[in-house]
Amino acid sequence: MLKGKKILIGVTASIAAYKVAYLVRILKKENAEVKVVMTPSAFDFITPLTLSVLSENPVLSAFSNKEDGTWNNHVDLALWADVMVIAPASANTLSKMAHGACDNLLMAVYLSAKCQVLFAPAMDLDMYKHPATQENIEKLKSFGNEMIQPGYGELASGLIGEGRMAEPEEIAEHIKSQLTEKKLKGKKALVNAGPTYEAIDPVRFVGNHSSGKMGVAIAEELARNGAEVTLVIGPSDITTKVPGIKRVDIVSAEEMYTVCSSEFKNVDVAVMAAAVADYAPVSKADQKIKKKENEFSLSLTKTKDVLLHLGSVKTAKQVLVGFALETENEVENAKEKVKRKNADFIVLNSLNAQNKGFGADSNKVVFVDNNSSLESFESKSKKEVASDIVHKIAKILKSKSL
Ligand code: CTP
Repeated sequence: MLKGKKILIGVTASIAAYKVAYLVRILKKENAEVKVVMTPSAFDFITPLTLSVLSENPVLSAFSNKEDGTWNNHVDLALWADVMVIAPASANTLSKMAHGACDNLLMAVYLSAKCQVLFAPAMDLDMYKHPATQENIEKLKSFGNEMIQPGYGELASGLIGEGRMAEPEEIAEHIKSQLTEKKLKGKKALVNAGPTYEAIDPVRFVGNHSSGKMGVAIAEELARNGAEVTLVIGPSDITTKVPGIKRVDIVSAEEMYTVCSSEFKNVDVAVMAAAVADYAPVSKADQKIKKKENEFSLSLTKTKDVLLHLGSVKTAKQVLVGFALETENEVENAKEKVKRKNADFIVLNSLNAQNKGFGADSNKVVFVDNNSSLESFESKSKKEVASDIVHKIAKILKSKSL
């Protein structure tokens, strides 16, 4: 998604400057064009050679080249960029930019920029907390710039607190969000993902192999498109760095049902990608069940079907998307399921396709509409499948608002 996008990175004097090498790598791997401007003091922290090799462009720092007298046109540079990122943004640079100073090339580029500018502050905790810095940050935000919240952790001073520059992957996600057309701006979305665990006793559960990857990819894509997303997720190691996602961790099908049904009334879109357990133990033993007989049977009872419930209370303006995992009569079952659960469409994925489904990074899906029409896709990455799903959601939302 960054292919051909022009990204200008401003590097200022902070120990976090070494992380910019990774940021440039990530952006170049995604085929973005990257140019770097450094403040003179940033040279103490990372060499321009490192960043010019990685970005495949000369690194600029001065207004002119002393040897041949050529001018580094700050206006051209600023207008070239689709997005500009100041990372790391030192306290000094934040202060100078908040007040319109123009004593180095990076300042001049910033003042000439018409594109969105992002700041990834990095400094010691007390410098970050100081009212002067906080006032500068607020001022820069009031100009329409985006601040990428620094993290909490160990700082170069040895102190522990807030001030660590956001990780390169997180900065890259903020850049992507800025560059994505906001098709769903002002919309609210609910996504569920992952497995549910149904307790047998304090140490055992009935569960499944869902990784949560597909649901998280959908939540991320919705957020990149400007939606305010609530992600309700069962036990899963997956984390997301995309801004605009509120994560609610749950464990059981009952909790999934409670959270999703209360959130649903506030949203325009709901995508039910979780592999909610269909059955749960009738009761949970208070103590660990001891091994006794040769055979042991467990009494299970049906869980509440979240999608079915949301379909029964859905308004005409809301879009509801379900998933179906079938191993036989796939399309016929999906056609029946989309109607029975009153979804707008169902994403049918097949376990028959090799290396697709749970845990895999790719997926081959068919969209089944509530009027039984089908759209088949080639095998794609889960991220691309998420993008197809969000594209269809945006189309349906548009038709419902006409
Ligand atoms: N689903 C749900 N709550 C459940 C079970 C399933 O919300 N208790 C949702 C899933 O999130 C998915 C859809 O229902 O979006 C279809 O799930 P699937 O397991 O394929 O179908 P089932 O409804 O369980 O039906 P069947 O067992 O007949 O295939």
